[in-house]
Amino acid sequence: MDSWDKLKTECADCRLCPLCTGRHNLVFGVGSEQASLMLVGEGPGEQEDLQGFPFVGPAGKLLDDMLEIIDLDRSQVYIANTVKCRPPHNRDPQREELEACRPWLERQIALLSPKLIVCLGRIAAMELIRPDFRITREHGQWFEVGGRRVLATFHPSALLRDPSRRPEAFMDLREIRRVYRTL
Ligand code: URA
Repeated sequence: MDSWDKLKTECADCRLCPLCTGRHNLVFGVGSEQASLMLVGEGPGEQEDLQGFPFVGPAGKLLDDMLEIIDLDRSQVYIANTVKCRPPHNRDPQREELEACRPWLERQIALLSPKLIVCLGRIAAMELIRPDFRITREHGQWFEVGGRRVLATFHPSALLRDPSRRPEAFMDLREIRRVYRTL
């Protein structure tokens, strides 16, 4: 039987793809192991790689504000990424890297068994909802994936780059809050 301890121990030594060679720290994930809401980002950036925790850089501050809109804080959710090691220069994770890392994320989802999953950005949405997911058209909608409700919204880094998307992200967060309250 799988357990968080087993998963963390096995994942800590991961050498399944070349991203392991450049990492300072593997970023496993953090939060409540009882959370009914899981957030899935893309991959560690510079600060996350240095500190070993997800969303501790500039995007993390905005993520905290986003969580506040849902009336939640980090201690009440679980946060993970599609890849656990930083891609060089924060480039998009490549297909082989996503595939190599996928079983870790699958096991996190299976252990947590969240009622709701929120994909932060297109990469997580393409991984968890559909490979041809279009974030600009399909954000804010719930999809049924493996018996769970999954929604994608804009990645906080994208909102930092393009603040004109913030009103749409705000509506997505209000929708997440509405459904979260019914759980
Ligand atoms: N961006 C992500 O997608 N994940 C992190 O952990 C940090 C920044």
